[in-house]
Amino acid sequence: MKFQIVAAAVAIGAAIGAAGSQPVYLDTTKPLEERVEDALGRMTTEEKAAIIHAQSKFSSAGVPRLGIPELWCTDGPHGIRPDVFWDEWDQAGCTNDSCTAFPALTCLAATWNPEMSALYGRSIGEEARYREKDVLLGPGVNIYRTPLNGRNFEYMGEDPYLASVMVVPYIKGVQSNGVATCVKHYALNNQEYRRHTTDVDLSDRALYEIYLPAFKAAVQDGGTWSIMGSYNLYQGRHVCQNPRLLKDILRDEWGFDGVVISDWGGVHDTDQVISGGLDLEFGSWTNGLSEGMKNAYDSYFMAYPYLKRISDGVVDTQELDRKAANVLRLIFRTAMNQAKPSGSMNSPEHVAAARRIAGEGIVLLKNSGNILPLDLDGKKKIAVIGENAIKMMTVGGGSSSLKARREVSPLDGIKARAGKDAEVVYARGYTGDPVAQQDGMKVQDISDSRDADALIAEAVAVARDADYVIYVGGLNKAPHQDCEDADREGLGLPYGQDRLISALADANKNLIVVNVSGNAVAMPWLDKAAAVVQAWFIGSEAGNAIADIVSGDVNPSGKLPFTFPARLEDSGAHAEGEYPGNKEQLAASKQWGDTIKEYYNEDIFVGYRWADKKKTTPLFPFGHGLSYTTFEYGKPTADKKAMTADDTITFSVNVKNTGDREGQEIVQLYIADKKSSLPRPVKELKGFKKVKLAPGEEQTVSITVDKSALSFFDDRQHAWVAEPGKFEAIIGASSRDIKGVVKFELK
Ligand code: BGC
Repeated sequence: MKFQIVAAAVAIGAAIGAAGSQPVYLDTTKPLEERVEDALGRMTTEEKAAIIHAQSKFSSAGVPRLGIPELWCTDGPHGIRPDVFWDEWDQAGCTNDSCTAFPALTCLAATWNPEMSALYGRSIGEEARYREKDVLLGPGVNIYRTPLNGRNFEYMGEDPYLASVMVVPYIKGVQSNGVATCVKHYALNNQEYRRHTTDVDLSDRALYEIYLPAFKAAVQDGGTWSIMGSYNLYQGRHVCQNPRLLKDILRDEWGFDGVVISDWGGVHDTDQVISGGLDLEFGSWTNGLSEGMKNAYDSYFMAYPYLKRISDGVVDTQELDRKAANVLRLIFRTAMNQAKPSGSMNSPEHVAAARRIAGEGIVLLKNSGNILPLDLDGKKKIAVIGENAIKMMTVGGGSSSLKARREVSPLDGIKARAGKDAEVVYARGYTGDPVAQQDGMKVQDISDSRDADALIAEAVAVARDADYVIYVGGLNKAPHQDCEDADREGLGLPYGQDRLISALADANKNLIVVNVSGNAVAMPWLDKAAAVVQAWFIGSEAGNAIADIVSGDVNPSGKLPFTFPARLEDSGAHAEGEYPGNKEQLAASKQWGDTIKEYYNEDIFVGYRWADKKKTTPLFPFGHGLSYTTFEYGKPTADKKAMTADDTITFSVNVKNTGDREGQEIVQLYIADKKSSLPRPVKELKGFKKVKLAPGEEQTVSITVDKSALSFFDDRQHAWVAEPGKFEAIIGASSRDIKGVVKFELK
C-alpha cells in the first residue's frame, strides 16, 4: 500500500515537473472542461484507449503515469453489492462488504414521495462512497410494459411522469456523495426474455412519450453523470452501438455530458461502437485474465481492435478523444472529487431510512371490514403461513442481489411486534424453488421435503383456530420469478399458492394476504381474503416494515405505480404488442442467438392508458392504495378558465382527513385532451402531491402545470405540441377513483 502511494506521488510529481507548474487537470479551482482538456492533452493514444474499457469485472483503468485513478463501479440499485474477484463473478469473500438493503425501486415509486427518493439516494450514496465506489449502477427506469418482465422490481412503474419525478432526487442524493449514478437500462429493455437479441421497434411517439421521459429527466433534471446502454437492439442495431439513441437523442437533443457505460457484455462490434456513441465498455465476454493473450481486457472491442484501426488509418482519433474526455470528466466528478464526503455504512440512519421508505411504499390493496390494523390487545393467536415469511429476499434476482448486514424476516418482524402475550405460530404452506446458491451467494437452507397436500393440511390446521391468519407469499428472486435474465411464465402465483390461499380462506375468514413481489400477480381468491397488502421486496427491514403496517404503527400510504391487470390479455403488450417477439420469427428461430423483432403495436397505450382505452376493469388500478383513515375531497377548481402556451394553470382541491388517525393521501392530477389531431390516452398523470393530515385536518392541495402537461409528441413534426382546445383536469385518489373534474381551455 505504502509503495502505491509513493508511486502515485512520483507520477504526479513527474507530470508537474513536465508542465513546469501545477497541471491544470489537478487544479480543482479551474473549470471542469479546462481540466479535462488539459489531462487529455497530456495523454498518449494508448492511455486514452486504456480508460474507455474495463480492466476487471467492475473497474476501468485510470492513467497511472498522471496520477489519475481507476473508476470503480458497483451494482446497484437497492444496496451496494458485495465484491467479486478481480476477474471472476465469484464472491471475493470479503468480510467488510455487507450493506444495508434498501427497498426495491418499485416500492420507492409506490411511495409517490420525492422526499423518500432523496433520502434513498443520499443513504445508498453514502454506502457507495464508504465502500470507495465511484459509479452506482442504477437506478433503473425502464417502463413497466408487461407484468411478465423479470426485472420490473428494479424499475419505477408504468408511468413516465411518476418515474421522471421519482428518479431525480435519487440521482441528486447519490451524486451529492461524489458517486455517479448510472441510470439504466437505456433504452427499451422492457423484457428479459432474449434480452440480448430482441430488436425493438416502435413509433417515435411511443418512444418519446412513454419510454424516454424518465431518462430525459435523469439527464436534464437529475444531472446524472452516467447512463447505461441496454442489451437489446433498437431498429436493428444494439443499443450500445446505436447512434440514434446515444448520439442524436442523448447528446444532441438532451445535452448529456456524462459517460455512456455499456451493460455488461452489451458491445458486439468495434466499428459500430466507435461511431455509435458509447464511452466505456464493460463485461465483454472475453475470458478475462485467465485465458491467454497478454491481457484479455486488451481484446475488448474498444481496446486493441480500436487502436489497430487507428494505427491502420481506418479511423482517426476524434471519437477516441471524445470518449476519453467524457470518461475523464466522470473521474474528476467522482474518484478525483476533492470535495467528496467520506460516506458511511450500515448506520442506524440507513437502517431507519430503509424502514421508513418501506413503510411509505407498502400498499394496502384491500381491507374488508377494516380487519387491519390488527387488534393485538389481549392474548391473540396469530398464524403466520407461507415461505416468504422466512425467506431472505435480498439474495437473488441477478445483479441486484445483495449481502445484507441484516434482514428481518416477516415472521420475526411480526413476532417481535406481537409481543410476549401473543401466540405466533408458523406453518410453511408451500415450498418454492430449492436453490443452494444464487448470484454467487449461498442461499439459506429452508428445504422441506413434504408434499403439497401435507404442507397445506398443516397450514390449514394451524390457521383454523387463529384470531388472524397472515399469509406471506408471492414471488421470489429465483429465475422466472422476479429475477434478471428471464421472464415470468404467467401472471399466476407459483408453487400452488392459489390452492393454499383458498384453503386458508375457507378455514379462517380473518385472512390477511401479504404479497411479496415486484410485479402484478393474479388473485383468483381475492373475494375470499379479508385484506391484501402489497409488500414488494423491501430489504433489510422487511419484517419490521410489514409489522409496522399490519399493526397500524404506520398508516399505509403507498399507491400502486403500475396496474394489476385482471388478465394478461388486458395488458397492451400482450393484446397487441408482439410480446415476447414477432411470432413468425420466434417460430422460425433455430438458435437462441437469432435476432427477433418486436414491434410495440400497443404504442403509447401502456398500463392504465391501455386499460382506459379498452375500458377494462383492472384487478387493482394504477394509483390505488388504501389507508386506515378516510379522506374526503372537495370540488376541484382552477385559477383560470383558459390558459395560453406561455402561461401556467393551477388546480386546487380541498382534502380532509375524516377518520380518527393521522394519514397521508396522494392526490393525483390527470389531464385529458378532449380533441386532438392524433389519438390521445383518455387521461395521463401530470401531477401529484402527497399530503399528511391529522384527524379532522383539511388542506388545500394545489398543483400547477404548464403546456408541457398538455402536449403530445407529434412524430410528423418531431416536436412536442400542445394543440389549443378543450381539456379536463381530473383529480383522483387513483386512476379509477375520480374525485372531480375541471374543464379548461388552451387558447
Ligand atoms: C445487468 C446490469 C448490471 C450489470 C453488472 C448486467 O447483467 O443487466 O444491470 O449492472 O450486469 O452486474
